[in-house]
Amino acid sequence: MDFSLTAEHELIRESAYEFGQREVLPGLAERDRGHVSDRSLLEKMGAAGILGVAIPAAYGGSGTDYISLGLVCEELERADTSARVVMSVHSGLHSLTILQWGTEEQKMRWLPKLASGEKVGAFALTEPDAGSDAVNIKARARRDGDSYVLNGEKTWISLADYADQFLVVAVTDLEASSKAAGLSAFIVDRKLPGFSSRPIKGKLGVRAGNTGQLFFDNVSVPVECRLGEEGDGFRVAMSALDHGRYTVASGSVGIVTACLDACVKYCHERKVGGEEIGRKQLVQQMIANMAAGRDMGRLLYYKVGWMKNVGLRHTREVSLAKWQNCNFAFQAAHDAVEIHGAYGYTDEFPVERYFRNSRGAMIYEGTREIHTLMQAEYELGYRLDRPLKHMLPEFRLED
Ligand code: CAA
Repeated sequence: MDFSLTAEHELIRESAYEFGQREVLPGLAERDRGHVSDRSLLEKMGAAGILGVAIPAAYGGSGTDYISLGLVCEELERADTSARVVMSVHSGLHSLTILQWGTEEQKMRWLPKLASGEKVGAFALTEPDAGSDAVNIKARARRDGDSYVLNGEKTWISLADYADQFLVVAVTDLEASSKAAGLSAFIVDRKLPGFSSRPIKGKLGVRAGNTGQLFFDNVSVPVECRLGEEGDGFRVAMSALDHGRYTVASGSVGIVTACLDACVKYCHERKVGGEEIGRKQLVQQMIANMAAGRDMGRLLYYKVGWMKNVGLRHTREVSLAKWQNCNFAFQAAHDAVEIHGAYGYTDEFPVERYFRNSRGAMIYEGTREIHTLMQAEYELGYRLDRPLKHMLPEFRLED
């Protein structure tokens, strides 16, 4: 068993950290305060090669492994959750799902442009009446010759106003043997007539990120844009979530690290009765818990990254990592506010932003209740992960 990161991993971690410092943090407090997202961040991420992480070089990516993707997510979220969310939807939920489910032709058609950032991808499963209960979505794709006619609505879609294309899940067969078997997945270009999007305002956190609704009004989607066979839609969506949850799990560790960065500094600066507050035992307890959350969180996501690298199904492990790491991040952010006292309650310090941002991740990509139930079902033998008909390709070092 080898827990060490390679020199390349360390370099990737360092570059992602520097990108966060240089490109994400300047002006962030104002953007977050004003609910303003910065579209130019996507171009910068593309130019820096970040959007091609974990995509094989044969498809225009960086040819790095899946642990590298986790490291990038951790370091980007250390700066701000909005930057990591880009990785979650573009790289995790969209690009890796095409890598897993696409035909060779589809991979060659979409992945190089996604990896370079020329195109941005996103994921559209959730609907106003179907969140956790994903199988009960209503969007309808009716086959019509060489196309599908797509109608319906999606909500809580990250990058709704910015992405060039969306992985959309819709009902294709109302008479299927089960609801899941009646779903199919499509890559839908936002330029298609009948598509529109609208931003969602008033979010508690991730205010520098774009989230919105999508509307499909008789959108004609060519049959060659279907990902997987008809009836594979639920499996495609769940595979996508295996990748998205990995990015959330790794990103959450970045929040813990950011809390530690802020709190260690503050503990040395702030004095009570002439003594640094870091000397107070109850403060030390919170710092110790943060350090434990960071290190346990890394172990959980490194293991998932390794499972992805060697081509093992990891639905159970990624659900555990996502669930626990979001808890670690929320607890760390809560304690970080506590350590900063009244200052932590204002936006003079970044910890209130970490607190607001960490709350969202306990809801998206599977609520903590869903992950609790999944873990119990695995343990009780009610849920079992079998090999899939399309596995994510294992990592191979390329020339
Ligand atoms: N990969 C591939 N296939 C999978 C899979 C996976 N990870 N998990 C399940 N499947 C397949 C199963 O093999 C099964 O196929 P077969 O019939 O061939 O065996 C089929 O899918 C049904 O699987 P389950 O019986 O496990 O499905 P379920 O009904 O028990 O699932 C659930 C229930 C786990 C709660 C699931 O509905 C779920 O995860 N819900 C949460 C959805 C979610 O996370 N939504 C967030 C959306 S993204 C977002 O937040 C917004 C954004 O923009 C980022």
